[in-house]
Amino acid sequence: MDLPHKGILQSPALAQYVYETSVYPREHEQLKKLREATVNKYGNLAETAVPVDEGRFLSLLMKIMNPKRTLEIGVFTGYSLLSTALALPDDGLDQGEELFDFAFVDADKTSYKGYHEQIVKLVKVGGVIAYDNTLWFGFVAKEEAEVPERFRNDRNAILQLNKFLASDPRVDVAQISVGDGITLCRRIQ
Ligand SMILES: C[S@@+](CC[C@H](N)C(=O)[O-])C[C@H]1O[C@@H](n2cnc3c(N)ncnc32)[C@H](O)[C@@H]1O
Repeated sequence: MDLPHKGILQSPALAQYVYETSVYPREHEQLKKLREATVNKYGNLAETAVPVDEGRFLSLLMKIMNPKRTLEIGVFTGYSLLSTALALPDDGLDQGEELFDFAFVDADKTSYKGYHEQIVKLVKVGGVIAYDNTLWFGFVAKEEAEVPERFRNDRNAILQLNKFLASDPRVDVAQISVGDGITLCRRIQ
């Protein structure tokens, strides 16, 4: 399946520049192997994994947050999961803790709002939920008629989610323009 260009960078050449300058030189060997194995096995479908600059963002975010427990919904071959796992602190899991510090959601877009209702209770106050693809190939800013039919349903779900999150008093939000857009939600109540 051919996918539209994922990312808000103005050209594939600019994305390549970012990858080659600041991502590939620091990409963990296991992430590189996983990326290559995913392309070998899935071809074009490998593009459903998070872009490598998004993986790097997640990795650095984990190092800043220093989370003990993380959750991911929508794993595919695990590039985002491994990006976060490799960045977790060595002292690792706090067995006594039930709530999560960080959750990354990259699954079926029409379920995001339902996931939010559940995850917001599973993440501790001060914890972060990250929703992937919240710019949905840029289709969120296009008229429906300009959007290929097969992307419309998910686009509508993302439009509703973005509107909802913007006024959800339980979380503070920031739209991060990396990859296909990540919305970071920090639980505040
Ligand atoms: C875009 S891919 C995830 C890519 C992944 N984050 C990565 O970096 O490789 C979406 C994944 O969500 C999974 N998925 C779809 N619906 C799901 C559901 N209801 N529950 C859990 N996973 C689901 C799909 O099987 C697929 O593996």
